Amino acid sequence: MTSLLIGCGNLGKIILDGFQKKDKKVFVLDNNSKVKREISKKYGKVKFCETLSEVKWKSIKYIMICVKPKFAKEILNELKNFCEKTHIIISFVAGLKTNIILKYTGAKSEVVRIMPNIFIETNNSATAIFTKNLNHKLKKKLKTDFSSFGILIWIYSEKQLDFFTAMFGGGPAYLFFFLDCLNRLNKKNGIKANDSFLLLGSLLEGTLKQIKMGNTNFEKLISTVASKGGTTEEALKIFSRNQSFYSLLERAILKAKKKSLEISEDFI
Ligand SMILES: NC(=O)c1ccc[n+]([C@@H]2O[C@H](COP(=O)([O-])OP(=O)(O)OC[C@H]3O[C@@H](n4cnc5c(N)ncnc54)[C@H](OP(=O)(O)O)[C@@H]3O)[C@@H](O)[C@H]2O)c1
Repeated sequence: MTSLLIGCGNLGKIILDGFQKKDKKVFVLDNNSKVKREISKKYGKVKFCETLSEVKWKSIKYIMICVKPKFAKEILNELKNFCEKTHIIISFVAGLKTNIILKYTGAKSEVVRIMPNIFIETNNSATAIFTKNLNHKLKKKLKTDFSSFGILIWIYSEKQLDFFTAMFGGGPAYLFFFLDCLNRLNKKNGIKANDSFLLLGSLLEGTLKQIKMGNTNFEKLISTVASKGGTTEEALKIFSRNQSFYSLLERAILKAKKKSLEISEDFI
């Protein structure tokens, strides 16, 4: 079985790397000559094709689409001439819905949508995977084939992908934003830059260890830090007054979800 990877930029390179480590055959189609040079240098045995008609279609199982949304329609239009029942189209394109892929490609192949985040690079992506029709065996295979991404969870309603994109696609940026605020506060209060990174890193590692130990009752964990009449309680009173922190987060994530929906509408 060979896979075709269309678009080998930021995300495509990581996918290719995962497949190479598992010794899986991949054909790459990317029209950026710099990308081609880089990949040929890194993986001598990756085969490139210049056009879809050069692809040995009989051997292809996965057709992975990994280009920016603005280039996706053009690719789907071309794919229409090659897609067969035996192929599984795997789209990583944010906002590109299954019915649009089916409409452009002639509805012959199965379609799967995968939405990872940037932590895919360290195999720690929180990834959603969605398909309308695939059977249990193929679903299991897909999960194994993309296990290098990190955590993969199946979602059963395509609409949920908009929320998932907003929450977990953007998630790394929200956490970095929060850390940046803490870092600025550290600096303002005289903590040296290097110390601040070490201290924030240890806060994160400690938090993660608690979760990995199975301590996932966050309210209980908070109460172990915030003793009655203590300092932390004073800060938490500000965070939770009128649910202000929660409401701000909710508003921000819903705005990102709305943007994901708007991007989807651009494809129609
Ligand atoms: N990056 C992420 O972390 C991430 C996470 C989740 C989902 N996604 C989704 O993944 C997709 C790709 O994102 P990316 O950041 O990897 O984009 P990218 O870095 O721009 O990579 C896309 C690659 O495809 C090439 N390309 C464009 N049109 C093509 C065509 N018609 N045929 C062959 N190759 C073509 C581009 O070449 P040029 O540079 O010459 O245009 C580029 O090398 C997006 O739809 C995005 O929504 C990305």
